[in-house]
Amino acid sequence: MYTEQMNASVRKVEATRDARMGTEPERMSAEQKEQLLAAFHPDYREDAFDTIAIGPNKGQKVPKELGRLLHTNSRLLNEQIDLDRIDCDADVLIIGGGGAGASAAIQAHAAGAQVMMVTKLRIGDANTMMAEGGIQAADQPNDSPVQHYLDAFGGGHFAARPELLRRLVMEAPDAIRWLNDLGVMFDKDAQGNMVTTHGGGTSRKRMHACKDYSGAEIMRTLRDEVLNRGIPVIEFTSAVELLKDENGNAAGAVLLNMETDEYLVARAKTVILATGGAGRLHYQGFPTSNHYGATADGLVLGYRAGVPLLYQDTIQYHPTGVAFPSQIYGALVTEKVRSLGAMLVNCEGEAFMHPLETRDVAAAAIIRECSERGKGVDTPLGSGVWLDTPMIERIGGAGTIERRIPAMLRMYLNYGIDMRTTPILVYPTLHYQNGGLEIDAAGFTKSVGNLLAAGEVVGGIHGRNRLMGNSLLDIIVFGRGAGKAAAERAKEVTVGKLNLDHIHTYAEQLSEAGLAGDGLSPLLLPNYARKAR
Ligand code: FUM
Repeated sequence: MYTEQMNASVRKVEATRDARMGTEPERMSAEQKEQLLAAFHPDYREDAFDTIAIGPNKGQKVPKELGRLLHTNSRLLNEQIDLDRIDCDADVLIIGGGGAGASAAIQAHAAGAQVMMVTKLRIGDANTMMAEGGIQAADQPNDSPVQHYLDAFGGGHFAARPELLRRLVMEAPDAIRWLNDLGVMFDKDAQGNMVTTHGGGTSRKRMHACKDYSGAEIMRTLRDEVLNRGIPVIEFTSAVELLKDENGNAAGAVLLNMETDEYLVARAKTVILATGGAGRLHYQGFPTSNHYGATADGLVLGYRAGVPLLYQDTIQYHPTGVAFPSQIYGALVTEKVRSLGAMLVNCEGEAFMHPLETRDVAAAAIIRECSERGKGVDTPLGSGVWLDTPMIERIGGAGTIERRIPAMLRMYLNYGIDMRTTPILVYPTLHYQNGGLEIDAAGFTKSVGNLLAAGEVVGGIHGRNRLMGNSLLDIIVFGRGAGKAAAERAKEVTVGKLNLDHIHTYAEQLSEAGLAGDGLSPLLLPNYARKAR
């Protein structure tokens, strides 16, 4: 499968393997990391960013691709929507069918609310489903939520909102218990104890996993619970704008049936945005590990309604996306591969960094290796470095890869590459938006009443870089929390007359800024989506 040039480099990797076994490159100092990030991390490329022209974050930095969507008018600006004709009513309207939305739905339903979920694809079509390596929780005897907090706070460059991170780590052990009780099949030893591993930047082994399909297993379980409870899930239906009442509080959404192009009016006492990430905007031309529907819709809806963004300029590039073969370019190679012992090695067979540096540092180091140092391996779509996977079998014994990361093994075997015996080529891939809508610790957005947010659409939980396994955790902790809080708030709310005034105010601001272009947002599907008609 590999080219001759790749095979020649593989021989160098094999030649240095014995010497590398049992040794690890030193961790970088804080100063070295800062210099590396400034020179090579994509977040530091000034020409890749614009300045937000209107709204609560006016004057701040934003990736160009997201900026274009924020600087665009609503799909509904010139539509005649009859807001007196209510198509559906709910106490809690949840927008998004991934892990955060499903957790919120379960908890709101358990609290007695009348819940409705809408999702532009199907329930479970989300980044949660694509998550592989695991979910963090400090529930082992040598660990504590305080230790978890310190790891995540440092890994996020001390920028996490303390009240959000505190909730994340404190509720983590309970989140794992909840999932376990719902039926998630976590990896356990013969005595029934959870098997835990390290992730990048963790000082304790606190990664709980379901082999390397942790997200799929968690999503399967959550989806079953939503459906078993009989919670209505409206699929293939996008929220295209939030609705407000005369007090300026969120009061529902205008929905678009993706199959018939019909608009529907959903009225609700509280609304939870759980729309996920933005990988399909392909910032700076990067490939992505994200789900097809990850087009930043919630950021656009929330911002237009008046919710501030936090850290919208910080993106996570997962260090190990597939660099070769081209058919799966950008797909995720879970960090668990490095947790199990595989080293990052350049074309000369040299280990150039500690395999478990935090993701932003690891991504920058790989980019440096392939650019400035010229020690990448050429591929049809660019270049990459080796992840020396046969080391895993040497460290853990024959069969470790099949037992611990079977999805990875199968993905590569499909293309004739046996990662048990040959290394694989990786390069950073767009994986996660560290930033998003600003919320308080209960999950309510800033500035818009009765509007909550949970999951990847939220900013501030992880600061400016997220550690592995803290995203599956945040969708559960903040999803459940938002569901509970929304159900409670709904008991006090009487919805007034619906309006879309904010989209007209936004249009005026865009016009004043000279930005009233032709485009429409939210995007809903990537630009390369096949159109039915
Ligand atoms: O590498 C991974 O398995 C990804 C995990 C995460 O983003 O938390």
